[in-house]
Amino acid sequence: MSDAPANRYPFTMPFGWFAVAETPDVSVGDAKAAYYFDTHLVLWRDDTGEVHVQDAFCPHLGAHLGHGGIVDNCQIVCPFHGWKFDAEGANTEIPYSERINRSAKLRTYPVAERNGFIYAWYHPQEEPPSYEIPEVDELVNGEFSGPTKTNHIVETGIQEMAENGVDSAHFRYVHNVDEVPVIQRYDIDGHRTIMESKQRFPTPRGVVDGRIDATAEGPGVSVVRFSGIIDTVLVTASTPIRSDQTETRFHFYVRNMGDEATNSTVGQAFAAEVDKQFVEDMPIWEHKAHLVRPALADTDGPFMKFRKWYSQFYAEDISDDRTVFPPPYWPEKMDETPAKATASAKYGSPTT
Ligand code: FES
Ligand SMILES: [Fe+2]
Repeated sequence: MSDAPANRYPFTMPFGWFAVAETPDVSVGDAKAAYYFDTHLVLWRDDTGEVHVQDAFCPHLGAHLGHGGIVDNCQIVCPFHGWKFDAEGANTEIPYSERINRSAKLRTYPVAERNGFIYAWYHPQEEPPSYEIPEVDELVNGEFSGPTKTNHIVETGIQEMAENGVDSAHFRYVHNVDEVPVIQRYDIDGHRTIMESKQRFPTPRGVVDGRIDATAEGPGVSVVRFSGIIDTVLVTASTPIRSDQTETRFHFYVRNMGDEATNSTVGQAFAAEVDKQFVEDMPIWEHKAHLVRPALADTDGPFMKFRKWYSQFYAEDISDDRTVFPPPYWPEKMDETPAKATASAKYGSPTT
């Protein structure tokens, strides 16, 4: 038996809007498998173009609707015995019966599609959405081009990763930058945080004064605007796969500079720089402990304000039995599970 505590973090899964796919990933008629919120999901787009996100397993005998499920108008058909379910998750037809099964229901998640993402609303107790994800103006006004995309799956909790945003001091040590962002404003407005920072960018022609302004829309989405050298908008989407594993998608848009080729070169260079920093952060996140009571410097960023804001997204109890939450083992070993109990050990062998 291991001495390691069972929970990697004091937190459970936060509630909120989270990206479960990008718009081009799910075409009309597609039914696809996904795994987020520690849950197997099916994503399907009906004939009217609307996307649906539901629990994956058919309540009849457990087939995965994202592996062979067929979209029939506004219903999804199970590949195993042909049962049909509608966009609310209700059983609408059993092809070999006159009746339907009213208790057979698929859990259905509220969906919003915008900014190039398919967002699902996750709440452990299935409460309805308590806020909205706004459209990003720069994506619709035609002045920006993109997106250039990057994507990472990290062995860390979603809150740990988000905390990086208020950590101005680490830029010098992890990212080796001479000029760290200076946070000028960090305000909480319900589900949203607004952070404004001053950033000096070294260039071959000298240092340029710039800005980094970030708005978080709940725990799953944030929009970061960089200005000074080239105006760039970064739409980020972070989604918990499990409470200790997170997928992050970055979409970069740059202000149009004329031709597509220039836009795309600049977009890619910017994305590569931010991505380089992200990859530098990964080993820190994956191996660090979560400290409930960190020892902070007076010049550190607003960590405790960030944590207080984030705590509103936990509908379930946060464990307070410890103040130090280390990784159970090295993250690269975390997927190794102990030998599984055999079926005969569980159900008894047919010969006994
Ligand atoms: S398992 Fe889905 S119809 Fe039987
Ligand atoms: Fe970082």
